[in-house]
Amino acid sequence: MRKWILAIVLAALPGFALASSEGAALDKANIDPTDKASLQRGAKLFVNYCMGCHSADYQRYNRLARDIGLSDEQVRDNLIFTGAKVGEGMRNAMPKKDAKKWFGAAPPDLTLIARARGVDYLYTYLRTFYIDEARPWGVNNAAFPLVGMPHVLSELQGWQKARMETHKDAHGNESTVITGYEIVKKGSMSPPEFDSAMRDLVNFLAYVAEPVKLYRQSLGVWVIAFLVLMTAVFYLLKKEYWKDIH
Ligand code: HEC
Repeated sequence: MRKWILAIVLAALPGFALASSEGAALDKANIDPTDKASLQRGAKLFVNYCMGCHSADYQRYNRLARDIGLSDEQVRDNLIFTGAKVGEGMRNAMPKKDAKKWFGAAPPDLTLIARARGVDYLYTYLRTFYIDEARPWGVNNAAFPLVGMPHVLSELQGWQKARMETHKDAHGNESTVITGYEIVKKGSMSPPEFDSAMRDLVNFLAYVAEPVKLYRQSLGVWVIAFLVLMTAVFYLLKKEYWKDIH
């Protein structure tokens, strides 16, 4: 019986199971899915810096508008650059085949990426592109070694070098770990500003991966309240029925 409970708990915590198998330490994203201003800033970053290559096919613009507190007009004027209608999905125009040729790997659709990889991974990934001349785009990534994506946020973050240290374990195996970063060319944002912008972007990606989450959570509260109430009612009812028998 106890094993069952454990299995259910583990199934409910996919991030937990994933995190334990990952090598690199991840920074905490600490997103707030109820912060609409953050979601709006994240959406703006997404359409400006990501949709050139990635899509979010399963997210419609008009649903997005309603959920993050914008009108259809605001979405049309500020977030749609692809000529799409507000009722359409966040598709882009890059053909998958060409993308694969250009980058070696096709940029994946990002609708479900936050569920597939976890928010801490995304937060770390977006902030840890570092200079590596040996790579085709001149950058490597701490969370995704040998990544095929260029450093598309360099105008905001700038360019950073990684400080590396080589460790030897008890068996004499060497491994290199990144101990920190050093900005060698400044971007338009300071490091804290960039971190905060990435928190917004990850917040947005988490929302896109599960747009009904907030609703589900608020519904959950009512379901529990209902169960508590009914338990009380049935308890009183039981007492009433058994009163005469005892
Ligand atoms: C110039 C094209 C391009 C742009 C712009 C771009 N990406 Fe990518 N991205 C790629 C490619 C190519 C890959 C596949 C990399 C690989 O598999 O090696 C990728 C992969 C990813 C992944 C998958 C990582 C994984 O673990 O599987 C994430 C997440 C991602 N991009 C997020 C973003 C976000 C967020 C933005 C906007 C800030 C963005 N990308 C902008 C080309 C791009």
